[in-house]
Amino acid sequence: MRSKIVAGNWKMNKTYSESKALVKELKKAIKEVKLDNTRVIIAPPFTNLQKASKKTKDSLIEVAAQNMCKEESGAYTGEISASMIKSVHVDIVILGHSERREYFGETNESLAKKVDTALKNKLEIIFCFGEVLEDRKSGNHFKVVENQIKKALFHLGSGAWKNIILAYEPVWAIGTGETASPEQAQEMHAFIRELVAERYLSDIAEEVSILYGGSVKPANAKEIFSKEDVDGGLIGGAALNADDFMALIEAI
Ligand code: 13P
Repeated sequence: MRSKIVAGNWKMNKTYSESKALVKELKKAIKEVKLDNTRVIIAPPFTNLQKASKKTKDSLIEVAAQNMCKEESGAYTGEISASMIKSVHVDIVILGHSERREYFGETNESLAKKVDTALKNKLEIIFCFGEVLEDRKSGNHFKVVENQIKKALFHLGSGAWKNIILAYEPVWAIGTGETASPEQAQEMHAFIRELVAERYLSDIAEEVSILYGGSVKPANAKEIFSKEDVDGGLIGGAALNADDFMALIEAI
């Protein structure tokens, strides 16, 4: 049975001490929750990764990095490699977030290389994709999403898919307060699962968790998470506050 997942992407938020405080709050709160086939992941900034990983070692919270260099090592000033992430006992990385694509020039092609490097280093990947508003308005959203997934992931062999989590994040819904309706999310998630089933075996499609991201809040989470093909959420703003994030875990 595929896992349900609530993942918090902290983006470029939280200083060292703020991050420590939030991890502490979450760690305490999570003890009160019964997690049934549900994974809870947080992705703090790099400066807090080691501390968060150490502090959550004995808890049900898992830690992810928000990005990673496609190269293994060398003269790439300012970059962080897969092995550096692994060296602080972090086994998950978010790749392909729309903010990385928009502001840092990441492309489907460069992401395919990042995916390979991450898998080679035994990192599990939360792979993000999603259409911009113009694509949705012109009815191109399915094509765009298909292209993003095919170009970055469909060169992989079947065995790699146990280390892939998909995250559909329509760009027009990120940080805008505007969410895809539960029906729009379900429609796209079913389409994605079908794409994976056509390219690979249907068992792989059935096993892959597909998260929705884009203005998920305690007030709308339950309805979105209740959809058949929505296996949880990748959360931005609401992951920065322990009460809100815990409410999302309760919602799932
Ligand atoms: P918001 O929840 O703030 O819209 O962000 C979603 C997101 O980008 C998670 O990666």
